[in-house]
Amino acid sequence: MDYVWPVLLLGVAGFFIGKFVKHKSLYPFMPFRYDFRKRRDTFRRCLDLLDKTNARTIIETGTSREGLHGAKSNGAATIVFGKWAQLNQAFVHSVDISERSVEASQKEVVAQGLVESVKIHLSDSIQFLESFAEKVDFLYLDSYDYSNDVEVQLKSQTHHLKEFKAIEHQLHEKSIVLIDDCDLPNGGKGKLVVEYMLKKGWKILMQEYQILLVRQDMVI
Ligand SMILES: C[S@@+](CC[C@H](N)C(=O)[O-])C[C@H]1O[C@@H](n2cnc3c(N)ncnc32)[C@H](O)[C@@H]1O
Repeated sequence: MDYVWPVLLLGVAGFFIGKFVKHKSLYPFMPFRYDFRKRRDTFRRCLDLLDKTNARTIIETGTSREGLHGAKSNGAATIVFGKWAQLNQAFVHSVDISERSVEASQKEVVAQGLVESVKIHLSDSIQFLESFAEKVDFLYLDSYDYSNDVEVQLKSQTHHLKEFKAIEHQLHEKSIVLIDDCDLPNGGKGKLVVEYMLKKGWKILMQEYQILLVRQDMVI
């Protein structure tokens, strides 16, 4: 019976060490408690590229409906890139078709003090992108939800391809494109758009759960 307490303590210590090792924060950029898990490294690389390319105009399709609390599940990109925008005199346009998502995201934008740096638009993303009249420095594609249903997968992939085509003419030689939910069965949201981009002079810079792309001849 002498060994029960040491074993128990070791188990508890192991549990917390495991949790700590798995925890992927963007600290010091974001508070340590938020775990960005499978998106942390691509977000970090992206933030670094935004610094280097002096990005000003950012578009996100599909807004952060769960706010920062969705860091692990959805990514909380509106807030992450909104904060970067606030610190760098840039601006985020986040577009979403759902009134509920827009309301929730707007609430978090206000709570985080980002109203001067982020605008949430209620619209279908393709319509929004088609009428967007400025050059885009960073495009983040994360709208039409992916699922296990093969029909939905194809609809989501087609939607993300259409999004890219709708704004392609506003991308320039230093634009950055990030696509979410790619490491999923049948290629995820990015399957068709990445295939298209690779034929159009883009290259993959990072491929994890998300895929990060820049122009083939971009020197980083
Ligand atoms: C995964 S969430 C976006 C998560 C967010 N980017 C983040 O980092 O937290 C997907 C969002 O896309 C929106 N959506 C789905 N279809 C859309 C469309 N056609 N146009 C714009 N938004 C759409 C949904 O309403 C939902 O809020």
